[in-house]
Amino acid sequence: MQDLTAFIRGLPKAELHLHIEGSLEPELMFELARRNQVDLPFATVEAVRAAYAFSNLQDFLDIYYQGARVLLTEADFQDLAMAYFRRVAQDGCRHVELFFDPQTHTDRGVPFSVVADGLLAGMAQAERELGITSKLILCYLRHLDEDAAFATLRQAEPYLDRIAGVGLDSSEVGHPPSKFARVFQASRERGLKLVAHAGEEGPPAYVWEALDLLHVDRIDHGNRSLEDPRLVARLAKEGMTLTVCPLSNLKLCVVDDLKVHPLKRMLDLGLHATVNSDDPAYFGGYLGENWTAAAGAVGLTREELVTLAKNSFEGSFLNEGEKAEHLAAIDAYVAQAD
Ligand code: ADE
Ligand code: ZN
Repeated sequence: MQDLTAFIRGLPKAELHLHIEGSLEPELMFELARRNQVDLPFATVEAVRAAYAFSNLQDFLDIYYQGARVLLTEADFQDLAMAYFRRVAQDGCRHVELFFDPQTHTDRGVPFSVVADGLLAGMAQAERELGITSKLILCYLRHLDEDAAFATLRQAEPYLDRIAGVGLDSSEVGHPPSKFARVFQASRERGLKLVAHAGEEGPPAYVWEALDLLHVDRIDHGNRSLEDPRLVARLAKEGMTLTVCPLSNLKLCVVDDLKVHPLKRMLDLGLHATVNSDDPAYFGGYLGENWTAAAGAVGLTREELVTLAKNSFEGSFLNEGEKAEHLAAIDAYVAQAD
């Protein structure tokens, strides 16, 4: 019998919750700082890694926005994306729906077009060279106001044929989904898919708002939904995909120990959970490591791993034909695995 790590590595899977700025490894951060003559508040790669001890989401975000300052040119964004794709190609990843935070860059004077063109070039290169397909999701920063989100949507206008959807990220508590109901409505009217971080640190009420006021197609994280049985029943009934991020939850103290991570409980409750990395350069693992760490900690069976892999494609924004091809590839893989 193949060991669990090897079985996981070969299993075709999609990543649905990945902030591309969160895949900036300290080595690339230093290289880009040198290339662009940006001063870093750290002397060495080791000092950067040593600073990655977080006690909550805000602790992390403060460092994450600092790190993004080295990203200035189209080539920087392309290199960032390609470094991520090369890494997850080794994890059996076939498709990625990646978040980007345009406001983090436009607020520093980097034009929206530089960010979008660079990322799109990296995505095209990954498809050509690695066979990994991808879609782009523009995230509104929830600690900023709705006018700023509307301005971002206007800047995105020339790119809307190449952007699959919009999301909502950054500091959750104190910034409920209701704050962004109108810009999500406007995004929906432009044919964009909708996702939102909810229930990572925020209460179940924020998940209800994401469903009822934003009309999201997926919930990012959703952990705290489990505190509300009526919400769990609703999510299960609607087959709502949750993009769960085990190592992120551990690093940001959403859970005290991976052994008590709710992933298995979510599956037992009939929720459509998926496994993702969130910000892999900051949280100690890419897609494969999230799968193996979570599977080992909560004791997932092969059957449950296959369910998670199928959930990742079923919950994606691929079309029905593409989904069917990936699901068939999973079945073929399982059939030949001994
Ligand atoms: N931005 C990057 N990672 C995030 C997370 N886990 N939650 C909210 N905003 C984020
Ligand atoms: Zn996230």
